[in-house]
Amino acid sequence: MLIRKSDPNPIPSSEITPRSAYMNRRAFIAAGALGAAALAADRLAGVMRPEQVQADTKLATIQSPLSAKDLTPTSFYNITHYNNFYEFGPNKDDPARNAGKLQTSPWSVTVEGEVKKKKVFDIDALMKLRPLEDRVYRFRCVEAWSMVIPWVGYSLSEFIKQCEPTSSAKYVQFISVDRPSQEPGIEEVNLNWPYSEGLRMDEAMHPLTLLTFGLYGQVLPNQDGAPVRVVVPWKYGFKSAKSIVKVKFVKDQPGTTWNEMAPNTYGFYSNVNPNVDHTEWSQKMQRVIGAPFWKQLEPTLMFNGYGDQVASLYKGMDLNKYF
Ligand code: MTE
Repeated sequence: MLIRKSDPNPIPSSEITPRSAYMNRRAFIAAGALGAAALAADRLAGVMRPEQVQADTKLATIQSPLSAKDLTPTSFYNITHYNNFYEFGPNKDDPARNAGKLQTSPWSVTVEGEVKKKKVFDIDALMKLRPLEDRVYRFRCVEAWSMVIPWVGYSLSEFIKQCEPTSSAKYVQFISVDRPSQEPGIEEVNLNWPYSEGLRMDEAMHPLTLLTFGLYGQVLPNQDGAPVRVVVPWKYGFKSAKSIVKVKFVKDQPGTTWNEMAPNTYGFYSNVNPNVDHTEWSQKMQRVIGAPFWKQLEPTLMFNGYGDQVASLYKGMDLNKYF
């Protein structure tokens, strides 16, 4: 879904094979002979075990009733080494290599637009606003691959209440950090920076929409959008803006990065919908990242499987037109 600045014949990034995975060396040394054999097997599968999460990044969390109970999370390794974060480069393994440069402390989120008064939230205060919940969600990228991710956060609606939007606020826009000195992809990738995304107010207020600070019980790794991002589980992944510095409440549907780049391909709504093809590929099936080869392809579910909870938001709308 991407165009390089110097590329005369852009290739969709879904076609680019990621470079070979590497294994955490410290973990390898620490494991004994048996462990090493097990880890070698994991390496083949691209797995990094959650217990390798470092203690100093651990978050205090509570279980959420909104978490999926029947899904096995994708490995920590794959979640953190197969990313789209174009500020750090066009390839899936670029964010893991380059995102360490981003300074995520200090960090604040500015709230402006149709609100009683402009506010600035420091990241530490934001993380303490509500108890942090573990929420395992399906995650579906527009490039027809999927993961299951154990996020940590709380419903975005809790934050929106603190923002005090006025009755004129009909949409909310999320704007990502734009720091070319720390984000090499900004020079390399041809997108309108800063990255921005938007939701209708009722979508933003839906309890499933998550203001996200972590995954696998630890703070978000930079490549996954540290220190704060949005996750909207029934929409294609690009609606979930990472490393947010500004939230703007607006009257009219805002321009968003991918919609402005290619409006016929990336609609504003971008609900996961097997019946609406991407302009270059079908959305009927999805490739499950990290699954054994015999389980790698599975059918795409309408609203990514969250139809019972969210279909009513779109009652009466032609979802072929508002894709
Ligand atoms: N947010 C920013 N700021 N920049 C990006 O390039 N990529 C989007 C979304 N949010 C992106 C972003 C896309 S295309 C996807 S699929 C998801 O982030 C990927 O999230 P993940 O790498 O944590 O799985």
